[in-house]
Amino acid sequence: MCGIMGFYGISEEESAGLVVLKGLQNLEYRGYDSSGIAYYNSLNNKIESIKRSGKLANLSKEILCGNPLKSGIAIGHIRWATHGKPTNENAHPHLDCTGNIAIVHNGIIENYIKLKGRLLKNGHKFITDTDSEVIAHLIEDYILQGFSFSESVRRSALEMKGSFAVAILYAPEKRVAAVKYGPPLVLAQKGGNLYFASDISPLLEYTGEVIYLKNSEIAYFNDGVLDILSFGGKKVKKKVAKINWDASKVAKSGFSHFMQKEIYEQPSCILDAFSSRIVFENNIGDNKSSKIVSIDKNKNIAQQLAAKKFKVALEDLRLTKKDVESAQRIVFVACGSSYYASLISGYIIESLCGLPAIVHYGSEFRYGSFPVKNTDIVVGISQSGETADTNSALELALAKKAKVVSICNVPGSQITAISNKGVIYTHAGPEIGVASTKAFTSQILCGLLLALFIRQYNGFLPLGYDPSVLFKDIVELPQKIEKILLEGEKIRDVAKKYYKSPNFLYLGRGILYPIALEGALKLKEISYIHAEGYPAGEMKHGPIAIIDENMPVMFLLSNNLLSSKTVSNIEEIKARDGIIITISDYEPDIEGISDAIKIPETSLFLSPILYAVPLQLFAYHIALLKGTDIDQPRNLAKSVTVE
Ligand code: M6R
Repeated sequence: MCGIMGFYGISEEESAGLVVLKGLQNLEYRGYDSSGIAYYNSLNNKIESIKRSGKLANLSKEILCGNPLKSGIAIGHIRWATHGKPTNENAHPHLDCTGNIAIVHNGIIENYIKLKGRLLKNGHKFITDTDSEVIAHLIEDYILQGFSFSESVRRSALEMKGSFAVAILYAPEKRVAAVKYGPPLVLAQKGGNLYFASDISPLLEYTGEVIYLKNSEIAYFNDGVLDILSFGGKKVKKKVAKINWDASKVAKSGFSHFMQKEIYEQPSCILDAFSSRIVFENNIGDNKSSKIVSIDKNKNIAQQLAAKKFKVALEDLRLTKKDVESAQRIVFVACGSSYYASLISGYIIESLCGLPAIVHYGSEFRYGSFPVKNTDIVVGISQSGETADTNSALELALAKKAKVVSICNVPGSQITAISNKGVIYTHAGPEIGVASTKAFTSQILCGLLLALFIRQYNGFLPLGYDPSVLFKDIVELPQKIEKILLEGEKIRDVAKKYYKSPNFLYLGRGILYPIALEGALKLKEISYIHAEGYPAGEMKHGPIAIIDENMPVMFLLSNNLLSSKTVSNIEEIKARDGIIITISDYEPDIEGISDAIKIPETSLFLSPILYAVPLQLFAYHIALLKGTDIDQPRNLAKSVTVE
């Protein structure tokens, strides 16, 4: 949802416009509906800008055909419209009255009407319907009052309310500034050049060393010198963070779509999520010097697990024994697929830790009246770490003195700064497809690791729980996912039979109910087909009315305690001529199944991961057959940074 890219090259040999354009291409996945670039023209000491509605290709056509953007400084933006339609005019960058200042903005300026009123009175001319334009005029106004550029930026930042990441280009002094209050901004320096962006993906090809701006910080850059100041005007010393994502992760690498690539990356993502976190029992605890021992994939796993007692150690989690012992419940907040991963994590926490788990949508939690207590552990799950509703809910929990933890995929993102008790990184690598796949399954695994971690301290003994079976199944999970991926063609054939159906129903029970929700969401998001997920047992309380011979029903069937119940639900659908498709880990003895997809068996707590994979492939193939924009589905944004 909106993206900023900027470049300040110390020589003009490199076209800043082209660097920024390439960066914007790497940010496209965030979701947008118009784009623009402003660059410094050294021939006349002025700012030139180009803005286009629609896809980035419209902007790049303009730039590559008509305008070489010979310049060493440029800022660019992809916009996801909030205030004002996605027209050329409303696209960023916005200029002040003199054309000396260009700004690009992510977020919302909540007090823009008031600021605009004052600036109009002062004679400023506005030409767009956006809230963002006010920023350029506000800075201009302070400069007109005699303040320096940096002081004008600082005063403007202090005056704006809402959430904003802003990049500013000031032509008279050949300077850029970047302001953060809410949405992320990441800086990188290489060979005297400065790169900055909304996230690390466009920076990876230049360097793996970045600086995360924190809220209420402003970076100023001029001729190779970077200064970072607080909104209070104090110089801030920043740490350089090393990123171990490589640039190839933001390329399709032979796959047709990022989503397809990300589905196929899941075996290695799951391996990355657990491999360094399973340790010998005598090496865990608060002892920071513990030797982390990973399991050797090439040796007999059962023997390795039997020989030693393995436990879970989570490197960036700061929950202490005391925190866990005093916790009376675990509260999850999240949105979209991350909410479904939270439902699964809640189920696992209740089963493995004997603690009540409460799961809320971020958007409901923040305006609801949920009584947060200081004994609560509140867990935010978010791929991006930028979801406004989730982050605001966590801020609220923090204000009530709860212990806040996050499960997140993006290093340095906003959620990681909010989480006072640390983070469990999913380690899934950059997820570019708007529809979450590998991040979702990694979130489930990390939810399980959190439950195992808590259980180590609270000592709850679940009935029939055999850790050696669970640990063995965790280690074998990547191979089992591989096995499902090898069935890709079969799943494509099933998709071929049903892709014209206007509706789908997804049904599951217990821990697989959230997977029914996720399967339906995946289909909706990328194929635009109406699909509903439901608990199988609830079907007879309403949805059964929509069953007829045209309704495909996807059943998630597992050979566990609830299998006979789900089989009865299948019979109910059959009796009403519905079309039955099953995904199951056993051969059910049922007649009349139209299509059956078989997957490997695993432990109950890991089963959602295996059931999610065929549903991702099913949605992918249906969308492919329908010819939709799989990686950037209409109306959707990857990071939803506004309410
Ligand atoms: O970045 P987050 O995990 O916080 O995002 C939450 C949702 O916006 C996200 O899961 C969304 O539902 C995806 N498009 C799902 O595919």
